[in-house]
Amino acid sequence: MTKLRDESADAIIINSSKLLTLETDNDILGTIVNGAVAVKDGFIVETGITSDIVDKYPHCTNVIDAENYLVMPGFVDCHTHLVFGGNRSVEMARRLQGESYLDILKSGGGIHSTVKSTRAASANDLFNIAAKRLNLMAENGTTSVEIKSGYGLDEDSELKMLKVIKELSEKHSLDIVSTYLGAHTFPSDSERKDYVSWLSGRSLNLFMDYAEFFDIFTEEGAFDLEETKSLLEAAKKAGFKLKAHVGQFNDLGAAGLASSMGAISVDHLENISDKDLDIMADSGTVAVLLPGVPFFLQSSVYPDAKRFIKRGIPVALATDFNPGSCPSYSMQMMITLGVFHCGMTVEDAVLGATLNAAKAISREAVFGSLKPGKKADLIILDIKSPEEIPYYFGTNLVKKTIKSGRVI
Ligand code: NIG
Ligand code: FE
Repeated sequence: MTKLRDESADAIIINSSKLLTLETDNDILGTIVNGAVAVKDGFIVETGITSDIVDKYPHCTNVIDAENYLVMPGFVDCHTHLVFGGNRSVEMARRLQGESYLDILKSGGGIHSTVKSTRAASANDLFNIAAKRLNLMAENGTTSVEIKSGYGLDEDSELKMLKVIKELSEKHSLDIVSTYLGAHTFPSDSERKDYVSWLSGRSLNLFMDYAEFFDIFTEEGAFDLEETKSLLEAAKKAGFKLKAHVGQFNDLGAAGLASSMGAISVDHLENISDKDLDIMADSGTVAVLLPGVPFFLQSSVYPDAKRFIKRGIPVALATDFNPGSCPSYSMQMMITLGVFHCGMTVEDAVLGATLNAAKAISREAVFGSLKPGKKADLIILDIKSPEEIPYYFGTNLVKKTIKSGRVI
């Protein structure tokens, strides 16, 4: 039994079939058979087997009975573009007729069409739509979410998005981490070099208080390697932590570049060289895989998790929730895709959706595993064992989502 301090509990969650702590050294997932968790003030005080926890906290009246179902940490969705107006189902139909994602982007659609609808939406509307999306994520077992700006692409609209993200983090029960993604693509109404200079100068000072991370989309049709280098340098100097969208369609060498500059994560990674993998292994940068994207874009090229894992690089999973390349709320589905298409074991995928995802947003000390001192963010799933998550693919298995010790 792991124990933090000798105090009473204000809730206990008991009778799991298995409790996946991701902490004990029983196995990779830190499994405790018939495990239980004691919670106080929203934080975990102790994990152990149910009979021990029940004996230890006899006065605790708030007992959540998991009824012999699987209990594990809530999912951490460490890469989303959750705030935006409109949707792009019409573009999906165009893609189904044979147009590619990059062709649609280059012809002024794609991200540009979401920029148009996001600029047109009021902050209030964006907040309400995003709050509803967060509720759906919580229903699907997600307890913490990273959210990027990047559909404003001008000062007022990026600020509007970042303020909405801030308001969500103040008002919504899920934990939210904010990322500034002004470098999502080039706006059609400004000169390329003017936009880069605004991004690397004034915007950083303006948005520093709204976002912890700076992110960039390095790709043909978006930012090139040289621009990526100068923007990441400026953002780092301004005090942002770094992330980058790299290797989604083409390997421009940005995974190695961003990792060598201390990026906390690099994301997508369908295309990456061995050389850049070695740089990532040295830097400790987390590889965030987004397998919903090749799925939704009908690509056969998925990121290969084994190439990262073999080198000791932590691998995380996320939805990339966005209107163009993956409108899915479901981390359970990402586990399925990780297992079926990215060469992950079930253990790799569960670790990737929880503790490694928390690492990708610098929150591994706060949530992502069931450890005394961390937030009591847990889910009860309608299964007995983790391999049933990908087995029952496409189904929401969540019976209860518990955020900071409270059922939401
Ligand atoms: O992570 N790749 C760039 N950005 C998003 C997609 C944005 C969009 O299509 O609206 C992504 O896949
Ligand atoms: Fe993304």
